[in-house]
Amino acid sequence: MSIRPSAYEFFAGGGLAGMGLSQGQSWGRGRTGIDTVFANDMDGMKAAAFRANHADTPFHHGDVWALNVGDLPGRPDLCWASSPCQDVSLAGARGGLEAGRSGAFWGFWRLMQGLQAENRAPSVIVLENVIGLLTSGQGRDFAAVCTAMTEAGYRVGALEMDAALWLPQSRPRLFVVAIKGEAPVTSTPAAPFHSPRLIAAYERLPQTVRQAWAWWSLPVPPHRNLDLDAVLEPDAEVNWLEDADSILALASPLHRARLDAAVASGQRRVGAAYRRVRTENGVKVQRLEIRFDGLAGCLRTPAGGSSRQYVVVCDQGQVRLRRLTGREAARLMGVSDDYQLPKSQSAALKLMGDAVAVPVVRALTEGLLAPALNNRRAAA
Ligand SMILES: C[S@@+](CC[C@H](N)C(=O)[O-])C[C@H]1O[C@@H](n2cnc3c(N)ncnc32)[C@H](O)[C@@H]1O
Repeated sequence: MSIRPSAYEFFAGGGLAGMGLSQGQSWGRGRTGIDTVFANDMDGMKAAAFRANHADTPFHHGDVWALNVGDLPGRPDLCWASSPCQDVSLAGARGGLEAGRSGAFWGFWRLMQGLQAENRAPSVIVLENVIGLLTSGQGRDFAAVCTAMTEAGYRVGALEMDAALWLPQSRPRLFVVAIKGEAPVTSTPAAPFHSPRLIAAYERLPQTVRQAWAWWSLPVPPHRNLDLDAVLEPDAEVNWLEDADSILALASPLHRARLDAAVASGQRRVGAAYRRVRTENGVKVQRLEIRFDGLAGCLRTPAGGSSRQYVVVCDQGQVRLRRLTGREAARLMGVSDDYQLPKSQSAALKLMGDAVAVPVVRALTEGLLAPALNNRRAAA
């Protein structure tokens, strides 16, 4: 039997949360990482990707609401839920956690209650979601999640972690971490993981939740030295767009000025761009928004052509434009090139656009989750 702690991975997608959990190196006395012993997702493409990359991990393909506690093996140390974020995303309709897909959180929570009833509750629960969870439903969704965890006997805290601290991608995400018993805490919020918007959300929580709240402490990583250019395919091996001029013409004056400055430098400058619909003078217009800060924009699920990210390369006074590839998206999530991606570019981009960045989970594991489990085992 493994002496490593075990995890159930809900809403597992391509299994990136589990990859980060298993890579956490700070486990004491030669023990490293946390093993996923059960995973679940309802999407067929994600199920195929999970199985292709984690053949030894028991995987249940189906709706979380169709699972029963009896389907879950043993007693997990940790349960991870990357529940769907569309309904709480700032970019979405914001129906809240009770609505449609994000309501799946409660399908997960029902299982946590079932485990508790059988004395099999995990010591640690992590909910990963978009930052919009802090404010959706005027803060009621965040309060409901934290209240459920508090009532189940956990200390609760949250961290806002941006993948840009580890990877060349701007990707802020919320991690709500519930821990039973003694755990490392800070008494006051500290940047960068306790952002002003998280502190504001905490202040809106009910008193009972604030009493069980912890400002979890996490080491800040050293300065990132990887930029966007470092994860791109060689220029000669990708397809450049022939209609680049018409797409670049969508840039607003501000973004056009950025582009012109990059071209005028005469140096190689690599940027990332998205098409977005903006309202200008009361009229909706398509705009191309370009950044040259060494980061890709947050990867998104490609629901339509406009949500696929572009790569802009300026070199020796020339500009070239192309689509970001699925493999590049995987690298932007901290996934190594031996990970098997779906053959279709749109499937690969969807898989990665929905996922959690591996080094972020790894940092959370090393800095907080593994030490908390260590404390629990030492106390047992
Ligand atoms: C934000 S993604 C999480 C991706 C994952 N963390 C990863 O790294 O790839 C949410 C996932 O929840 C799955 N999902 C949505 N509703 C579900 C439900 N009711 N039951 C099971 N899985 C569901 C989706 O298919 C999607 O893969």
